[in-house]
Amino acid sequence: MTSSNDKQLSRAQLSAHYEAMQNIHLCDLFMHDPQRAKTYTQQLGSLHIDFSKNIITKETLDILFKYASVSKIQESIKAMFTGEKINTSENRAVLHAALRSTVDQELEIDNEDVIGKVHTELNRIKKFVTRIHDKSYRGWTNKPIDTFVNIGIGGSDLGPKMVVNALEKYRQFETRSFFISNIDYQAIESLQKSINPETTLFIVSSKSFNTIETLTNAETLKEWMQQIGCDDLSKHFIAVSNNHDAANEFGINDENVFELWGWVGGRFSLWSSIGLPIALSIGFDNFEGLLAGAHETDEHFSKTPIEKNIPIILALIDYWYSNFFDAETHAFIPYDESLNLFPDYLSQLFMESNGKSLDLNGHRVNYKTMPIVWGSTGSNSQHSFFQLLHQGTHFVPIDFLVPLSKQGNKKHHAQLLANCLAQSQALMQGENNTDPNKHFPGNKPSTTILYSELTPKTLGSLIAMYEHRTFVQGLLWNINSFDQYGVELGKKLAAEIYDNMEETVATEGLDSSTQNLINLYKQYNPSKD
Ligand code: F6P
Repeated sequence: MTSSNDKQLSRAQLSAHYEAMQNIHLCDLFMHDPQRAKTYTQQLGSLHIDFSKNIITKETLDILFKYASVSKIQESIKAMFTGEKINTSENRAVLHAALRSTVDQELEIDNEDVIGKVHTELNRIKKFVTRIHDKSYRGWTNKPIDTFVNIGIGGSDLGPKMVVNALEKYRQFETRSFFISNIDYQAIESLQKSINPETTLFIVSSKSFNTIETLTNAETLKEWMQQIGCDDLSKHFIAVSNNHDAANEFGINDENVFELWGWVGGRFSLWSSIGLPIALSIGFDNFEGLLAGAHETDEHFSKTPIEKNIPIILALIDYWYSNFFDAETHAFIPYDESLNLFPDYLSQLFMESNGKSLDLNGHRVNYKTMPIVWGSTGSNSQHSFFQLLHQGTHFVPIDFLVPLSKQGNKKHHAQLLANCLAQSQALMQGENNTDPNKHFPGNKPSTTILYSELTPKTLGSLIAMYEHRTFVQGLLWNINSFDQYGVELGKKLAAEIYDNMEETVATEGLDSSTQNLINLYKQYNPSKD
């Protein structure tokens, strides 16, 4: 039988099984199996993953595992790790895992020694970070650098910004970090008020070196530095890019350009030189800790059978909810202030990767792909949108994230944890009440991810777990998780509209709504002549 027949068969099995499962209550599953929590909790490094509060049984998982196996998930994982060009639309390998490889590993693609290059670049980062931290690197007035400004957007912003923020307590020396991404000038104005330009390093982070927001922000800050008297910009502007020519043209010499290879996707790039702002803020050793944590997850993901493989299991449960329970969204709620930027980071990771409607053969899919990813920190969100989660009409699977221990005030931490555990319990069990306003239906699924405390290593493991879960979701939907053509049209039209607004070019055949909106702008911003 062909693999496509096998897939159809196990999808049909899942449909039939869904009919039986849709009216099962989570509380009954717990009542009938006292071992349930133990059976459905697994450990990955220092992460404890409890997926017992999901609407699954042994039979569900068996059928899902079969679906994973006929979908050739493990063959695809091997293909990724061995450098096959699995990003077919761009004819590229997908090698973010190589960025956290150990130096003794080997991987060659297209006559390129991937591991060698990765470690050479890591050494460059290490040397550079050391020069900044030992104060031998100086600015134009011979002052040491104590402020790092990353200028980038999307994958060249969200990952490093989230990690720097999450690991703030690991900050080395008296330094500060800023991230400029939005084209809104307000961000630059506020930055200019906060920094001393003589002690500031600007890192222009752009894989393409062609992103309008990043280039505009970088040009504006370069002009500002010149205006205030900086007579050696090379000491204050470095770049991370795959496009050295464009970086050179901007005025940054090759010696100050850190490499980002074509086989690293933007949203998977924080382990590369894009992570330079991380290494600068927490030190190179801690950056290595982050890589080591991710490597631990890579080892688990590439070597563990489907039935015990955490990213695969979680992606299968995602698939189960999105394609059988019609889940339109998935919420991520960290009960950890350090992870307050994590939901934003995950939004790009999941939605830019799997928000697709063409399968790998170029056919339009007739099933749902990536649900909308959103979230915010607990316990704040309990006092805002949790109303909808408890009593609304949408089916919203949730990931809760919470540290088992946290430095600082014990009482606060215990209350934080209690709130997290209470929410997943309340969502699951609900509460009967004769007053319909006070009735909680329950049976709302969630996964709780607990970790000892948020160290660089733990964070590395956690992020890599989500990266691999994203990849497996894409495999289950038979889509390419590694391109992002959907972001291009808006960029092209923005350039045309900008020209129209500046009246350098009149856009022909413009719809009347957009034309009216442009005219309104012109009324508010009349040209001077
Ligand atoms: O427009 C989307 C995108 O291409 C993302 O995929 C990417 O992470 C971001 O823009 C930034 O791209 P670059 O690093 O090339 O500036």
